[in-house]
Amino acid sequence: MTTNRKVAVITGSYKGLGLAIARELAQQDDIWVIITSRKETDCQATEQKLKAEGIEVDCHQLDVSDAESVTRFMEWVNSAYGRVDILVNNAGVSNADLPTEASILTAKAETMLDTFKINTVGALRMCQAVIPLMQQRGYGRIVNVSTEMASLQQIPQDFYPPAPSYRMSKVGLNAMTAMLAKELKDTNILINSYSPGWTKTDMGGDDAPYTVKEGAETAVYLATLPDGSSQGGFFAEMRKFGGAVVLPW
Ligand SMILES: NC(=O)c1ccc[n+]([C@@H]2O[C@H](COP(=O)([O-])OP(=O)(O)OC[C@H]3O[C@@H](n4cnc5c(N)ncnc54)[C@H](OP(=O)(O)O)[C@@H]3O)[C@@H](O)[C@H]2O)c1
Repeated sequence: MTTNRKVAVITGSYKGLGLAIARELAQQDDIWVIITSRKETDCQATEQKLKAEGIEVDCHQLDVSDAESVTRFMEWVNSAYGRVDILVNNAGVSNADLPTEASILTAKAETMLDTFKINTVGALRMCQAVIPLMQQRGYGRIVNVSTEMASLQQIPQDFYPPAPSYRMSKVGLNAMTAMLAKELKDTNILINSYSPGWTKTDMGGDDAPYTVKEGAETAVYLATLPDGSSQGGFFAEMRKFGGAVVLPW
């Protein structure tokens, strides 16, 4: 299958925020969305659900913590489309509810490493895989789904939940954003982090104030930035501030 539309890949997108971002992007005429999930059947079921709503997407298995899965995915996307124009690094885990995550003093190295493997290294693996394709076409938008809980300036004031593994993995994700932005300076590949705000999903829980559509809003904004726009920023959820607002790192 080939397309003249921009191809958008969203990790961890069969449910939650990833699905909301996919749904919004897929309704734009110039974008073709590929949803992905660790279990192939999960994104296949979501593809069918979207189809019943009149929204066409493609889907493929992708576990960002598994180098072979990423290689298989990239081989498929290359042969099917030969391009990736938009990458949303949405896949993420939080172990904030573990008792050992109630304090940095008790955080377990295994939990820390498991969390980094997905939230930080998985996102980097995806960036390293797609940026060469973006460079070939001279166009790219990369959105890293972070959290304001990873704002180093806010950590001393806002310390609930402690979630050390989650926070540190997302600080690492933000550092990756800044470093890649430096590498990609003066190109048309724009990479930014954003915080969706506390959003109703399996991770966020039912008490969260934002819907997934609201949480997805800033991701869609950053995924469709016009040429010459922001590079290497950390954005707050637009809903809260009524527009694009940069957070302190
Ligand atoms: N909800 C919030 O309040 C909130 C706030 C700030 C930031 N975020 C961020 O938003 C992103 C989406 O979270 P969510 O709230 O939508 O939670 P969610 O419903 O739990 O979704 C997380 C998604 O990531 C996928 N995933 C986990 N490990 C993966 C891996 N190794 N490879 C590929 N996919 C993987 C999950 O798939 P499985 O079901 O297979 O595990 C799931 O599809 C995360 O990065 C999270 O940190 C959320």
